[in-house]
Amino acid sequence: MSTTTELDFIHRYEPETVIGSPPLLMLHGTGGNEHDLVDVGRVIAPGSAILSPRGKVLEGGVPRFFRRLAEGVFDEDDVRRRANELADFVEEARERYGLAKPVAVGFSNGANIAAAMLLLRPGTVAGAVLLRAMVPLKEMPKADLHDTPVLMLSGVMDPIVPQENAARLALALTERGADVDHRLLPLSHGLGQADLSLSSDWIARR
Ligand code: MLT
Repeated sequence: MSTTTELDFIHRYEPETVIGSPPLLMLHGTGGNEHDLVDVGRVIAPGSAILSPRGKVLEGGVPRFFRRLAEGVFDEDDVRRRANELADFVEEARERYGLAKPVAVGFSNGANIAAAMLLLRPGTVAGAVLLRAMVPLKEMPKADLHDTPVLMLSGVMDPIVPQENAARLALALTERGADVDHRLLPLSHGLGQADLSLSSDWIARR
């Protein structure tokens, strides 16, 4: 299926092929688009519906999900606005396509907007796989994340996300009640086979 401009985000939607599979919300990294993570979604959850929006912010002409002032320094007003906008899109898309609550699967900037959405609009997604995520907001809001499972996969050699920063996010989500499984992988910022197999096993257990 191809990209559609219906609803508030340009996105790609692939219906489920196995009834009852958990739908996935795929959120790409900086410079990606709605096509980028579709194959990853197919690998980690074969049979699941895939909803994959394109980030609306352009940085040097390439898409992202929110504005940043520098590498790792976020425009937090924009983070809040865009996380709410994305949550509204998820609700509209669920209605349009008849979807259960999706599991968000975000990479890098996509993981950061997923983390922001968990904190600002808890209950929008059924859980989240955060690949190379970092703290999206300096002051993390109170949120009730009980019953929200989160898999966080961080790279010990990641030059973009300091380990301390990823650990702070994992702690904040845990303190808000999320069931967080945070793993450190012997990898950099890019994804490896371990990301796919751990994500796949984790989703299969949902
Ligand atoms: C971000 O801007 O969200 C993070 O620095 C990750 C990235 O997109 O490089």
